Amino acid sequence: MLNGSDKVRTAVLVSGGGTNLQAILNARGDVIRHAEISLVISSKSKAYALERAKNANIPAVVISAKALGGREAFEQELQRVLEAHGIELIVLAGFLTILSPEFTRRWDHRILNIHPALIPSFCGKEYYGLHVHEAALARGVKVTGATVHFVNEIPDGGEILLQKAVEVLPGDTPEVLQRRVMEQAEWILLPQAVETVAADLLKAKDPS
Ligand code: GAR
Repeated sequence: MLNGSDKVRTAVLVSGGGTNLQAILNARGDVIRHAEISLVISSKSKAYALERAKNANIPAVVISAKALGGREAFEQELQRVLEAHGIELIVLAGFLTILSPEFTRRWDHRILNIHPALIPSFCGKEYYGLHVHEAALARGVKVTGATVHFVNEIPDGGEILLQKAVEVLPGDTPEVLQRRVMEQAEWILLPQAVETVAADLLKAKDPS
């Protein structure tokens, strides 16, 4: 699947505001040296992440399971677009559609996800976005954080690559905690993981 260039062609999949996409874009040429952000795919036409892609001159497409009438058609189209752009690595950055086992097997060890908690806490199907932080506050944990992991057929169940702990402070609201976890963990970990995996993919291609 690799294309012979010195950078791994990478697609970032989004559904929302895209602050993690922005962190990846900002890290190009700095932390990220072996991945090229070649494509942004949004599951929602109104996602602000699309503006971020446009501002960075990155091709962006909307692929909506709802508009296509279901997950099978969605994944077919997703695969077609990824192949058309020669994509080798996929980064889920606040992407809210769960991918099928067939899709994750096809992209084995080539899909990364950022999750806003310390897996195995507050993870799995129903834990996404602000709900994760609501659950952490409701449970009264004093430390939370973020995790970057490979994606397999189990939601949030793939091999863990990086984790970083973040303190929960008295008086935190879900929004305040979400912002702290983003600033202190997500926006740091995700570019680091993209770089590590991209560099490993290139090394596997050309071990010399
Ligand atoms: C981020 O906090 C990300 O970790 C989370 O959604 C947010 C997206 O924000 N992802 C999940 O909860 C996945 N289970 P962003 O669009 O500003 O990057």
